[in-house]
Amino acid sequence: MQHFLDIQSLSKDTIEALLERAMHFKYLSHFPEHRHCTMANLFYENSTRTRISFEIAAKNLSMRVINVDINNSSESKGESIEDTILNLAAMGVSHFVLRHTTPNLPAELATKCGNKVHIINAGDGQHAHPSQAMLDLMTIVEQKPNLKDLKIVIIGNIKHSRVANSLQTVFKTMGVGKLVLVSPSLWQPQICHYGEGSEDLHQGLQDADVVICLRVQRERLKENEHLDLNYYREHFTLTEKNMLLAKKDAMIMHPGPVNHDVEIATGLVQDKQSFILQQVTNGVFMRMAILEKLGGFAEPYI
Ligand code: CP
Repeated sequence: MQHFLDIQSLSKDTIEALLERAMHFKYLSHFPEHRHCTMANLFYENSTRTRISFEIAAKNLSMRVINVDINNSSESKGESIEDTILNLAAMGVSHFVLRHTTPNLPAELATKCGNKVHIINAGDGQHAHPSQAMLDLMTIVEQKPNLKDLKIVIIGNIKHSRVANSLQTVFKTMGVGKLVLVSPSLWQPQICHYGEGSEDLHQGLQDADVVICLRVQRERLKENEHLDLNYYREHFTLTEKNMLLAKKDAMIMHPGPVNHDVEIATGLVQDKQSFILQQVTNGVFMRMAILEKLGGFAEPYI
């Protein structure tokens, strides 16, 4: 694998291999060493989980890590991102983790920079967040491996969510039994990649095995897409009461960052059914598997 750009580019076999490798890493105390690789974080949008998770993942594999300070780089003098990447590659950087507001920019840069580098999409606008979908899948499979028997509900701003896009694709590829995408009509997507849209939270939650709340993403809303948050709270916030509609052992998930008492009641965030921090933990191991799979490594898979 040269680049990690979206879930569509991954076969079911590749997804399963990444899952297996990430789960294997989780129970290892010593990791393979890949000292000859250098990873650069290029984050043009804010991040806590993804950036630091990739950094820890790379360091676990003994890779060198550079966090590029975009505001003080020569891009302020007009240098393009492509030139930044090629110059860093000329210094020996092999892996580029890119987060940007522009959809498909990682794919465009991958085409331009070719096989000199590995480009990893860490979230491109509203388009895709494939490593998040992979770590979410890992978290679900650890608890509920029979994906074809599951009802999964995703609640929130589906229309603007790169996480929702990547999750629909990964659930489709892996054959999840039933997927319901619950959101206000204003935030329903024009096209569902997989699953059915609904404005009815109660119908979506009924007998669900996994409940995934999404961030409201106010920064992505156009003027005519803003909703009254009180309306959202009344109809779409996950609460202790409406969670009773889901199965007793249903998992609660959220990619973060959480807006407490908007997407999910504060009391549920650290509930025994919540796997929100488990998602964050798994992110490190999944990103280790992704970095390793991209190659440039001497040691074979175990
Ligand atoms: N889930 C996620 O992408 O979080 P960050 O924006 O903090 O990276």
